[in-house]
Amino acid sequence: MENSLDTSGREEGEDSVSQHGRVVTEEEWLKKWQLRNIGFHIEQGHPLLKKYLDIFLNGRNGLKIFFPLCGKAVEMKWLADLGHHIVGVEISESALKEFFTEQNLAYSEETVPEIPGAKLLKNTSGNISLYCCSIYDLTSTVAGKFDAIWDRGSLVAINPCDRERYANLMLSLMNWRCCCLLVTVSYDPNKYKGPPFYVPDSEVKRLFGQRCDIKQLEKIDGFTERHRTWGLDYLWEVMYILLLK
Ligand SMILES: C[S@@+](CC[C@H](N)C(=O)[O-])C[C@H]1O[C@@H](n2cnc3c(N)ncnc32)[C@H](O)[C@@H]1O
Repeated sequence: MENSLDTSGREEGEDSVSQHGRVVTEEEWLKKWQLRNIGFHIEQGHPLLKKYLDIFLNGRNGLKIFFPLCGKAVEMKWLADLGHHIVGVEISESALKEFFTEQNLAYSEETVPEIPGAKLLKNTSGNISLYCCSIYDLTSTVAGKFDAIWDRGSLVAINPCDRERYANLMLSLMNWRCCCLLVTVSYDPNKYKGPPFYVPDSEVKRLFGQRCDIKQLEKIDGFTERHRTWGLDYLWEVMYILLLK
């Protein structure tokens, strides 16, 4: 019966209890990259971004698009090739370097005066700018505001205790016409501790509902063998569109 997930009943009680206190440190993320424990990376890009690209772009050209916790997401290259300007943030420098190398893009590095210890990696044509620092160090003063945000593997990857801080940061980075596509995962959190963390519908509404109109665009079966090895027997990917009210 697991596949007949009922978003109202099942989700509410189980979430916070089993995963709320879990913390994954930045060092643990760096270690995942070092040990190549990066099963979250999708080499061919995410099917839901392809499917909803027209809604995401909404006929607009030359958008400034944000990729929080970007890893080496290939969608950054897709969108840059369509003429958009990409900004990402990621703590793993090796992830960012792999991105440029794998996409055959020459890049340069510079320091970021406003963020001690951070680096900015940019391709030569200057339409992909990736900050190597913690997402929580980024502000609209440093990066400006965005026309679109692709949040896949980001809200679900941050520690549950940081969600409000994260949501407030995202809201502060959205310009008034910004379209955010948010992908969450839904599974039985008693069977796997995360990340990715289970983010129920109610949590999306709690974090963004006051400031955004939220619509669930799609819920797809995202279950793979990898998830079976985690002890799960179902996993849904849920995509929302968030627009400032
Ligand atoms: C689940 S992966 C998702 C990557 C990417 N969004 C994708 O779709 O492939 C999460 C990424 O966030 C990075 N990360 C974790 N905590 C971070 C933080 N506080 N600031 C910036 N990046 C972080 C990790 O190194 C990892 O590459």
